[in-house]
Amino acid sequence: MKLVLLGYMGCGKSAISNALANSLNLKRIDLDDYIETKEGKTIADIFKENGEIYFRKLETTCLLELLDNEEAFILSLGGGTPCFGKNMEIINQKSISVYLSANIPTLVSRLLPEKAKRPLIARIADEELAEFIGKHLFERRHFYLQAKIAVSVDDKPVQTIANEIVSAL
Ligand code: S3P
Repeated sequence: MKLVLLGYMGCGKSAISNALANSLNLKRIDLDDYIETKEGKTIADIFKENGEIYFRKLETTCLLELLDNEEAFILSLGGGTPCFGKNMEIINQKSISVYLSANIPTLVSRLLPEKAKRPLIARIADEELAEFIGKHLFERRHFYLQAKIAVSVDDKPVQTIANEIVSAL
């Protein structure tokens, strides 16, 4: 089985993919980690030194590489991965996609302490983060909603969310 977790930054893709990997006995892959290893640089440095367009091309190349060359896995994407080019279409052709839906207060509380390692929000003032996320999510939701399965993650323990996903498969 190829399972792909997607959703906005801070929705819990990594933590939930860990729990799912245990429940389903599948290998876990994180697309951001894969990109960082391949490039030998952090995501923040790739954005800083090469720019976002370079990052998006690299992200799509790595996504295709994993979807085509790996047999079975749980893959957690970056928040923007499904929102560029034909990525969402390809994800749905080659895997079972799961959208982890989080509301704005949940995202703000998780992202505030972690802004620095995320180039798209690193320079947004704390008091403007909720408004930024609201607008950004509005642009991206259309892509996220194309996932085959959608699960709400607000105020739920990670294992409960993982169990809900397993039941929906
Ligand atoms: C991004 C999300 C990040 C990372 C990059 C861009 C985005 O991943 O891929 O900073 O466009 O939303 P996480 O969702 O794991 O933070």
